[in-house]
Amino acid sequence: MSPSSQMWLGLLAGLSQLRQVSSTPFIIPFLEERQAFTVPAFVSTYAPLVWLYSGEKYFPSDIRAQLDHTKPEVNFEVIPGYPTPLTLDNLDSLNADNGTQVYLTSVDDITTNPTWLNGVKPDSTGKTDGAVSVAIIVNDRGNGEVDAFYMYFYAFNWGGTFLGEDVDDHVGDWEHNMIRFVNGVPSQVWYSQHSFGEAFTYDCLEKQGVRPFTYSANGSHANYAITGEHDHTIPNFNLPGTGILTDYTDQGTLWDPLLNAYFYSFNADANTYKAYDSSYPTAWLKFVGKWGDEQYPNSDKRQHEVIPGISATAHYAGGPTGPEDKQLNRTEVCPTASGYVCDVRTSLTS
Ligand SMILES: *[C@@H]1O[C@H](CO)[C@@H](O)[C@H](O)[C@H]1NC(C)=O
Ligand SMILES: *[C@@H]1O[C@H](CO)[C@@H](O)[C@H](O)[C@H]1NC(C)=O
Ligand SMILES: *[C@@H]1O[C@H](CO)[C@@H](O)[C@H](O)[C@H]1NC(C)=O
Repeated sequence: MSPSSQMWLGLLAGLSQLRQVSSTPFIIPFLEERQAFTVPAFVSTYAPLVWLYSGEKYFPSDIRAQLDHTKPEVNFEVIPGYPTPLTLDNLDSLNADNGTQVYLTSVDDITTNPTWLNGVKPDSTGKTDGAVSVAIIVNDRGNGEVDAFYMYFYAFNWGGTFLGEDVDDHVGDWEHNMIRFVNGVPSQVWYSQHSFGEAFTYDCLEKQGVRPFTYSANGSHANYAITGEHDHTIPNFNLPGTGILTDYTDQGTLWDPLLNAYFYSFNADANTYKAYDSSYPTAWLKFVGKWGDEQYPNSDKRQHEVIPGISATAHYAGGPTGPEDKQLNRTEVCPTASGYVCDVRTSLTS
């Protein structure tokens, strides 16, 4: 063996020792301790408080329980050989085939109003006891800018009445607020409403202490910054003059989203989620399918169009997509949607 190859061998042996040293379990905890991975305090300090409507019948619901009451279907057929049981740790496996066409479909006929649709009414402390009904997702955008998404889950959406008839009911309902923080200070807040929503400066909002109020509308759970009646048209459909859908909000039941939430951080570049606590499931956040039944065809006896031929006026709509489809990497506090301008209101009445 030549001296030079002995030298190489020595170097290689040294390198492999280094590798062993750096993979010993003694060093890892030390590194983790130095880079503590915790929910930024301001995300909790300034979290919204949600007022549910006094006449609400469909309360926030356990995210996982939705899987107990549904089966995944594509085109109204149960997916053959889907993984059972479906859990929040394997839900993303449904993405593999026709993922966006997957509908978590109620095993019960929802016109019989099975009790699981009602969710869990918050108790006197504001907690949905026994139901993890919120996912809080933090996107640290760098330069001191942090977006916190407060994602609210309800098992059922009662869509209201249009020309005296029920429209837009559906299984599964995801709504959200987003607070944009700059150096730990809340600056702007997004309120999701039907197909879009409203943005406000944090300063102009109603609050309890420093926590802004969100008013969740009766049944539809659209989020408003004030109480009262809110006219809104059916999403993406220009109604004839008399047609008006109304959302109602008031200070019915106070819900504190912090008390029953999973907390995650989102990395936009890698499109990955990391749970702040290892007990929180994360795979489900990648699920691209829908959280309720597909819109029933008119041939289904449960279905009825208020205006025949206009599917947006149907009694039952299709289920919604989940958090991954809510534009977690935003330039502005509003999601971008064609034809909309991100108007950040500085007053509740403007
Ligand atoms: C509130 O929603 C329930 C159904 O969830 C409905 O029966 C009731 O009429 C609604 N109230 C108003 C004021 O719309
Ligand atoms: C996906 O859709 C195609 C075309 O409709 C169908 O042939 C295929 O069986 C579907 N795959 C699953 C897993 O449902
Ligand atoms: C996230 O948004 C910022 C602009 O707000 C953009 O520069 C960046 O490329 C986006 N990241 C991804 C992965 O889209």
